[in-house]
Amino acid sequence: MRVKSLSVSNFRNYEKETVSFCEDTNVIYGNNAQGKTNLLEAVYLFSHGKSHRTKSDSELIRFGADFARLSIEFADKDRDYRAVMQLLPGGRKSVKINNVPITKLSMLMRYLNVVMFSPEDLEIVKGAPQLRRRFLDEAISQLYPIYLKRLISYHKNLAQKNSLLKKLRITGKTDDAMLSVWNEQIAEDGSRIMEFRRDFIDALTEFAKQIHYNISGENLKLVYTPSIECDIISKEVFLNKLEAGKLREIENGSSLYGIQRDELRFFINDKEVKTYASQGQQRTVVLSIKMAQMENINSVRGEYPVLLLDDIMSELDISRRSYLTEKIRGKQVILTCTDADTAERTGSTKVFYVNDGRVREEQ
Ligand SMILES: Nc1ncnc2c1ncn2[C@@H]1O[C@H](COP(=O)(O)OP(=O)(O)OP(=O)(O)O)[C@@H](O)[C@H]1O
Ligand SMILES: [Mg+2]
Repeated sequence: MRVKSLSVSNFRNYEKETVSFCEDTNVIYGNNAQGKTNLLEAVYLFSHGKSHRTKSDSELIRFGADFARLSIEFADKDRDYRAVMQLLPGGRKSVKINNVPITKLSMLMRYLNVVMFSPEDLEIVKGAPQLRRRFLDEAISQLYPIYLKRLISYHKNLAQKNSLLKKLRITGKTDDAMLSVWNEQIAEDGSRIMEFRRDFIDALTEFAKQIHYNISGENLKLVYTPSIECDIISKEVFLNKLEAGKLREIENGSSLYGIQRDELRFFINDKEVKTYASQGQQRTVVLSIKMAQMENINSVRGEYPVLLLDDIMSELDISRRSYLTEKIRGKQVILTCTDADTAERTGSTKVFYVNDGRVREEQ
């Protein structure tokens, strides 16, 4: 997979700019707050349909402008694509790929695969469980659009169920026929989502374990801890748990069980990373899982994703940096840094200098 060029107008601090990328390493450097991350964000938008750092699309429109327009040319192993995106105030957005309107996020995600790695990703191991679920959801959706469909359907039904639970608690009723209707649908989607998560974590673990060992000599383990504990995942098990917990959920006035409470845990040499690992060890775990994600995409799709590395080289020590440099060889990488010297260059590396929303390619 590779991105050939990106054009942005009225996007973030860019008025109008076009960048042509090479198929190897692309180094984007410049001082703080000049627009480096904004370029990665633009590429990411086309793969995930949303920004990696904000939920609000209107933030992306340049201050004072009416709308933003982005276009990207990319290719997978079979064909070339040209995608265009318009962002309008109020969060309205339209996307076309090869002139065909894309109406669903799950349709967009199957085209361009990227793996983004930025310093904030440390939160995947350090932060709240919700961030790990988001990591899983984004990573799995990118490979299996049906997962995203299930997820959207699940959350829609969950919201309905929660408002019913709230109502029941207030009125003091102990049941409602609709509760079982929601539970049925939640169990249907939820059990499939659990299977996807389990399989993805298994696949990721295989790669991550090896990568992590090669970098650090330590044993990394990923453990999926679903809210619905079971030996064999099934709709029946899921539904039984929900039905058995009805009264407690009504008392609580909102759902207590389900994939919205799943957890993913990391262990190094059997010690929980979140609690015991040093900052450097935690960063290495993130590096390992991001590299594993890249390998997993290759094993499923038969080609590597585009790697977007936001200012991470400077945070890695020399041995980790050279491991990463070795690992990304032969793949397309777009990386940002403040000091161009931190990035290793090969013959085909392209270097871009970014200053105040202007990009200049260095010869
Ligand atoms: N909607 C917007 N309109 C205009 N400017 C914006 C908008 N959103 C963000 N910016 C500005 O874009 C600038 C560049 O942001 P960006 O995150 O790309 O910086 P960066 O080069 O990655 O810096 P750093 O090295 O600090 O990470 C920021 O100064 C920010 O204020
Ligand atoms: Mg930045």
